[in-house]
Amino acid sequence: MKSPQQVLEARLAAASLQLFASAEVQVKPCADARHGDFQTNAAMIRAKELGKNPREVAAELAALLPEDDAFTAPVIAGPGFLNFTLKAGWLNRALAVARAEGRLGIETEAQSGTVVLDFSGPNVAKEMHVGHIRSTILGDALARCHRFLGRTVVTDNHLGDWGTQFGKILLGYKRHGNEADLAARPVEHLEALYQQIHEASKTDEAIQEEARKELLALQQGNPESLALWKRFVAATLAELDKIYSRLGVRFDETLGESAYNDRLDGVVKELKAKGIARESEGAVVVFFDQPGDDAQLADKPFLIQKSDEAFLYATTDLATVAYRVERWKPIRIIYVTDGRQQLHFQQLFATVRKWGIDRVVPTALEHVWFGAILGNDKKPLKTREGKPIKLRELLDEAESRALEIITEKRPELSEERRQEIARVVDLGALKFADLGQNRNLDYVFDWKKLLAFEGNTAPYLQNGYVRIKSIFRKAAEQGVALPAADAGAPLDLREEAEIALGKKLLAFGETLRIVAAESRPHYLCIYLCELATAFHAFYEACPVLKTGVPEEVRASRLALCALTAEALQLGLGLLGIGTLEEM
Ligand code: ARG
Repeated sequence: MKSPQQVLEARLAAASLQLFASAEVQVKPCADARHGDFQTNAAMIRAKELGKNPREVAAELAALLPEDDAFTAPVIAGPGFLNFTLKAGWLNRALAVARAEGRLGIETEAQSGTVVLDFSGPNVAKEMHVGHIRSTILGDALARCHRFLGRTVVTDNHLGDWGTQFGKILLGYKRHGNEADLAARPVEHLEALYQQIHEASKTDEAIQEEARKELLALQQGNPESLALWKRFVAATLAELDKIYSRLGVRFDETLGESAYNDRLDGVVKELKAKGIARESEGAVVVFFDQPGDDAQLADKPFLIQKSDEAFLYATTDLATVAYRVERWKPIRIIYVTDGRQQLHFQQLFATVRKWGIDRVVPTALEHVWFGAILGNDKKPLKTREGKPIKLRELLDEAESRALEIITEKRPELSEERRQEIARVVDLGALKFADLGQNRNLDYVFDWKKLLAFEGNTAPYLQNGYVRIKSIFRKAAEQGVALPAADAGAPLDLREEAEIALGKKLLAFGETLRIVAAESRPHYLCIYLCELATAFHAFYEACPVLKTGVPEEVRASRLALCALTAEALQLGLGLLGIGTLEEM
């Protein structure tokens, strides 16, 4: 079904087409509910263009709107806004339909194209550190939202499985490595070997030279080097998979940097032939110094081949875009990484635009970047020993902290049950703490805040869901059945608090569309917190199971509870967060 906002947009678009020969109208929820539910500034914009009085134009536009079943007559406000309030009858019917249709009545988009999501992308032979958590969690949430809206999504893990670090890793393994450690703790072992050579090479040029030779041997396809490299990648992948399954994240593709090796040469040749790249001091570089180029990049050329002929991260990413465009013809490719890669992606996107490979379907390229996770000292989060925290350690700590809290709250539950609950609560808390932030800001990581059952946290929302479920259990004990979820269901909202909750429920779809358009899951987090608050206000003001509540009122309120539970579960699910029946 159409959401109230979509209904209003369609009606306003028709009126606007008639009056201004343009259907472009923006509708927004009113910031202050006392002014109404929705607002448009369309009249103000057109009046300015036409040099007319905006309030008069607003009146003309309002006069063209049909007699309305959904909204009360619009009110002209301030300099020429039109404010609209949803009618109770329409709200009740829409909620009943939403309940009957499932998905809160949110429609999927017809023919909306493929979205490629590039996230996580950790580097082989290195433990995933906490910086990778944001990419993994954000990317996964975005993938879920796009899928829910009906788009075809390809999640692709662009592993750092090729590159200069392998010279040192190979040399380290040959000198100090051993089979047993590689089998037992592969990533830890390889990382230590890398560090050892890396440190030694700082003062010893001979070691540097040897690492370079190892790298060259690998890049030239020496079978022994390749065989070792393959084992390193496989061992790392096995460890990564454990973490991904713990996080509940999955990828459709894991096409690492190495997958593009045999395309790199072709990419550089093609860009040179097209005059997009040229030689400069022995290297190959893309310059952005032509008319029409992004002026910001004028003095920031993109290096795509070094003077020793080596290819770079940039070259691989160019080949990757070409491959994705060929294979999926996506309408969007979204890269989720750390903010420090902003320049890289600006250069990449500017080069792709010059290249013009997306002729069949224009592909929007987007860099969804995020800030750092800070410790209480406002510096990047570290362990007590001052080392960067590894993702695995963070997950372990979250689990043990959550278990402590659950044990305190529910000592009567079995150890096993408490553990199950703790796993859902701790993962949810971690994910929500991350997703709830405006991703462009750094945020301070605080265990107490994140696992709190009050405030804007996952446990608060999970708890809201549990509470509603316990209302249903109580109802069942009293022999009261949940009203059936069909369009004729008896929803009849009258109290202010229940009407506010009902309206909030119907705003879910708009929230999701904004999340997907702007790649900002924190809007969904904010929405869910507002929803939970609206629910608590409703529950305070409107008794559901109390004796004396008329049967129809009880049925209506139970249906509203059911919709809220559905919305909380759906919303958390889209963030990759689970719900529990009890906690
Ligand atoms: N491996 C990179 C890193 O750890 C992230 C890869 C992002 N994706 C890409 N297509 N460049 O920073």
